[in-house]
Amino acid sequence: MKLTFTKEQEMMRKMVRSFADNEIAPFVEKMEEGIFPHPLLKKMGELGVMGIPVPAQYGGSEMDFISYVIAINEISRVSPTLGVILSVHTSVGTSPILYFGTEEQKQKYVTKLASGEYLGAFCLTEPSSGSDAASLKSRAVREGDFYKINGSKVFITNGGEADVYIVFALTSPEAGSKGITAFIVEKDTPGLIIGKDEHKMGLHGSRTVQLTFDNMMVPAENLLGKEGEGFKIAMANLDAGRIGIAAQALGIAEGAYGHAVRYAKERVQFGKPIAAQQGIGFKLAEMATDIEASKLLVYQAADLRSRGLPCGKEASMAKLMASKTAVHVSTEAIQVFGGYGYTKEYPVERYFRDAKVTEIYEGTSEIQRIVISKHLYK
Ligand code: CAA
Repeated sequence: MKLTFTKEQEMMRKMVRSFADNEIAPFVEKMEEGIFPHPLLKKMGELGVMGIPVPAQYGGSEMDFISYVIAINEISRVSPTLGVILSVHTSVGTSPILYFGTEEQKQKYVTKLASGEYLGAFCLTEPSSGSDAASLKSRAVREGDFYKINGSKVFITNGGEADVYIVFALTSPEAGSKGITAFIVEKDTPGLIIGKDEHKMGLHGSRTVQLTFDNMMVPAENLLGKEGEGFKIAMANLDAGRIGIAAQALGIAEGAYGHAVRYAKERVQFGKPIAAQQGIGFKLAEMATDIEASKLLVYQAADLRSRGLPCGKEASMAKLMASKTAVHVSTEAIQVFGGYGYTKEYPVERYFRDAKVTEIYEGTSEIQRIVISKHLYK
């Protein structure tokens, strides 16, 4: 099997790579200072990048899922921060409405999300339910034409910046995971309180906040899917979400590796470039091999998803492998740079800080192993 891309997919890569090198790269330092990249997201909307796999009838670019993964991969090579903003916006912020929403909901929300006018967020995790997502406690009670929602969420990527939040809450607490329901919540909904910003190790330009729902009144027409379908909606969209995060991790590894190779060719010690010393050559060879293996898994999962085939196992394998590779390669990149790599003068420490969370969010590596093993025993 050879990994080949279509002409359209290659065009997407070229376009996004050029955008990343020419427009994202000069903004990276600002994002490191904690500035949210609104100007870049606006341009990405104009380029059609905020709705790549969304049908044209809902304002999207109507390209395949592989093209979307290429975009995250290329963006994350330069800015993992922007990679996660795009991945969350598309895979778990927009797709739940595209796949489970009514025609009215798609017209009202997906069109604006796909054009980049709106930014999306996904609210599953709670203070006491992370890996055990089905144990969430937020409660939604029907009151006339509204649902009254009370509870809290943590680690919400794009929170505070998003226009639309996909919120999961219990409508039937006694039914366990089958009592969870999904809602589309607009940012100005009364009772939606944006809480504390998390001060993270990396991804400084992306916002991660706590949310509180204090008697939040959500119109009944914003019920997403049916009552009790929420957990399946969350899990089904996380399958694709995990491919997006795997692509982000792949981009991180490629970015760090690129800097390491360039430096190794320039840096001279013991009378020759360190790239020509076996210790560094072996390191770079292993980094390149891990990246190649991750790439095959990421694009295999993306190909399955593009063709509408089940991809849960492959998505988890891709995320498990690519996140491990991102952490390993960014660590080794620092080693190649030596003392300089440990300073903020060079970009490799940023990749290292950005890499770690890919082993945590959208399901930890331990959860990916659970998902994979469940598939093996099916
Ligand atoms: N697609 C559709 N349905 C699915 C599914 C999938 N991928 N996975 C499970 N389900 C269904 C099951 O079929 C089952 O339904 P039935 O009883 O009708 O068969 C139901 O959901 C319950 O399934 P499980 O018994 O397997 O559920 P569980 O409670 O054991 O949990 C889990 C499974 C995989 C561990 C899940 O809890 C999980 O994925 N945990 C990790 C949570 C997570 O990834 N959080 C990410 C937060 S978002 C984020 O991080 C975004 C960001 O900021 C970057």
